Amino acid sequence: MSGQQDCALQLQGSIAWPGVCHWGAGALARTVIAAGARLKAPLVVTDASTWRAVRSTVEAAFAAVPGLQWHVYDGVVPNPAVDQVREALRKGRALDCASIVAVGGGSAIDVAKAAYACLAGGLEADELLSPKGQAWLDSASVPDGPLFIAVPTTSGTGSESSSAALVQADDGRKRLYRSNRMRPSLIALQPDLTLSLPLRPTAQGGFDATLHALGAWINTDPSPVGKAMALHALKLCLRALPAVLRSPDSLQARADMQMGAYMAGLAIGMSKVDAVHAMCTPLESRVHGAHAEVLGPIFSVVSRYTAQTAPAPYAAAARMLGIANSGDDGLDALTLIDAVESLARLADIPLRFSDLALSEQDATLLASQAMQSASMPIHPRTLAPEEIKSLYLQMAA
Ligand SMILES: [Fe+2]
Repeated sequence: MSGQQDCALQLQGSIAWPGVCHWGAGALARTVIAAGARLKAPLVVTDASTWRAVRSTVEAAFAAVPGLQWHVYDGVVPNPAVDQVREALRKGRALDCASIVAVGGGSAIDVAKAAYACLAGGLEADELLSPKGQAWLDSASVPDGPLFIAVPTTSGTGSESSSAALVQADDGRKRLYRSNRMRPSLIALQPDLTLSLPLRPTAQGGFDATLHALGAWINTDPSPVGKAMALHALKLCLRALPAVLRSPDSLQARADMQMGAYMAGLAIGMSKVDAVHAMCTPLESRVHGAHAEVLGPIFSVVSRYTAQTAPAPYAAAARMLGIANSGDDGLDALTLIDAVESLARLADIPLRFSDLALSEQDATLLASQAMQSASMPIHPRTLAPEEIKSLYLQMAA
């Protein structure tokens, strides 16, 4: 047997598809119809401003279900904390809610995921980090569990299709929960629901989705479906983000951006991301900017460092997307990195931190936290803790 065959036989994995996604015009109404009798006493988990913008559309979709009783928790805030999970859960349990409908961006969907895990698993919010909570998160889905629907109104995190939820713990640190059981089983991608999102969060979400796609593409995870999703998501994001910034009222641009973010979420659900996101999560506990504004400087430093010794995956993407074809991996990789940085500038996302101050001790701690990410070992350039520390210090310089 050749070495290549030997290697192929050792590769293995599983592909967990997320729920059924209805996309395009009228997606929410079609989703509610598809839910049928499984949509029992839903609790809408959202934030106040999103709810003001899309309430009438959600009400119209629910009105098609005779006698449906539903309630709203609209207390989600950006960078949500476990307190919002507690509040949503308290309200859902007090009102006998039996399903969850997340309406909003990544923050609303992440809170809804954690609240759903508690509702479906009979857990309290504080138990999610305990062995009991972890056992539920790790367990297999059951077909007759409570229904969870996601209705994203932003295009960025891909939380609607990923298995992850990022929620700040009581100690201020962001905790990432992962479970295929927290994936919404129905997703409504209705482009006009993203029209009310202002340009700034639209730009930030689009950049985040771009880095999800690129991270899932360049990492060493072997999932062929994850890679296919990542590459197509990257193609869509690189095209749709400039288009949506140029023409924010274009439904086609919004639809492409929404699908790009969704597919990038699919890709990271299957293949995870890379060191850029692994290093972002700990830093976000110290830098209180938007997620994309923390990602920008990290991307600039980490991707250029990575491409010094591992340019191949960046170069392959550049060639497959028709951005570069010099035949030189190093040059083609830099062309792709330049293109992503140009996108950041177009989206008004800084590529340098203006006021980040880190001591050696801070950087050591951040590096040890970044090492805990499941995406760090699959980064295409192996990064030792000392290198990660040095990269953090470069960003602060
Ligand atoms: Fe992200």
